[in-house]
Amino acid sequence: MGLNTTSEIDIVRVSSSKIDSIDFENISFGTTFTDHMFVCDFREGNWQRPQIKPYEPFLLDPSAKVFHYGQAIFEGMKAYKDEHDDVWLFRPDQNMDRFNKSAKRMAMPEVPEDIFMSGLHQLIDLEREWVKKGLGNTLYIRPFMIAIGSGVIAAPSTQYRFMIILSPAKSYYSGEVKVIIAEHFSRAANGGIGAAKAAGNYSAQFYPTKLANEKGFQQIIWTDDATHTKLEEAGTMNVFFRINDTLFTAPTSERILDGVTRKSLISIAERDGINVEVRSVLVSELVEAAKDGSLKEVFGAGTAAVVNPIVGFSYQDVYYELPKIENSFALQLKDKLNSIQYKLADDTFGWTVKV
Ligand code: COI
Repeated sequence: MGLNTTSEIDIVRVSSSKIDSIDFENISFGTTFTDHMFVCDFREGNWQRPQIKPYEPFLLDPSAKVFHYGQAIFEGMKAYKDEHDDVWLFRPDQNMDRFNKSAKRMAMPEVPEDIFMSGLHQLIDLEREWVKKGLGNTLYIRPFMIAIGSGVIAAPSTQYRFMIILSPAKSYYSGEVKVIIAEHFSRAANGGIGAAKAAGNYSAQFYPTKLANEKGFQQIIWTDDATHTKLEEAGTMNVFFRINDTLFTAPTSERILDGVTRKSLISIAERDGINVEVRSVLVSELVEAAKDGSLKEVFGAGTAAVVNPIVGFSYQDVYYELPKIENSFALQLKDKLNSIQYKLADDTFGWTVKV
């Protein structure tokens, strides 16, 4: 697969790069940004000429709809550097498709492929020094779109800004991840925006997650809003459960994000002979499996988090610790995924795209 890089982009470069002032070994996730950003506005029914310019703040009218109605969507992607200093993207077509599905659900204009892909390709090409070599080093890519039209009438904006910013990143979580299974709060409901990568899906989780953090848990595993009996996803990751030697994960739905890491792990696991069942997993099944010892692993999967083992979960105020096992599916799958992303193994799926 190749990138479509046809769109004409105006490029204004920084006069001097800040790269030498960055301590790449000690970066906390999402706090450091590269020298440039990509910007393309939508006005009067048309996408305007795109620009790459120095990373800097910008002004918006206080009545811009993004501030009042949260009309905002985003994506999370990564670029990787291989041993030969080549830079690679992982399944960017999947992120672009999901971005445009999110745009449609939030009554925003879809971003044409040539703008999305040219912006991505040319911005990363300009910032390739920011992609560091070595397993675990990545450049996190954050495409996003906000409603910039002014006026507090509760109706879709007529003006939007599509941007891409880049942030060198190592791991998302530092330390162990323990989770609480949701019994009261919900992340999404049927017919809602749970499958969209809408900003509000994330801010709506901040309060319940803050309560979980206060009890010593890093994340919540959301359950279905109607019955709170089915395990769905953790807010920053999809989740997998290994019971004996079968890997389970919930099917994507109107309530669950169609994660690129999730579907890639399913393909790798199936290719390598791991039995995968994509079906709803009941909270009661998980608790039973934890009690009888058949629950071997729980792990999250997402672009930022990659594959993150979960060390234990709490349900109805009882804490269940996961066993420490050899031959972990999470670690095997993470290694195989990373090997493809960093070009250490053959990409038999055709997922990687050179910048
Ligand atoms: C990602 O994994 O890229 C996400 O978008 C999740 C985000 C909350 C960091």
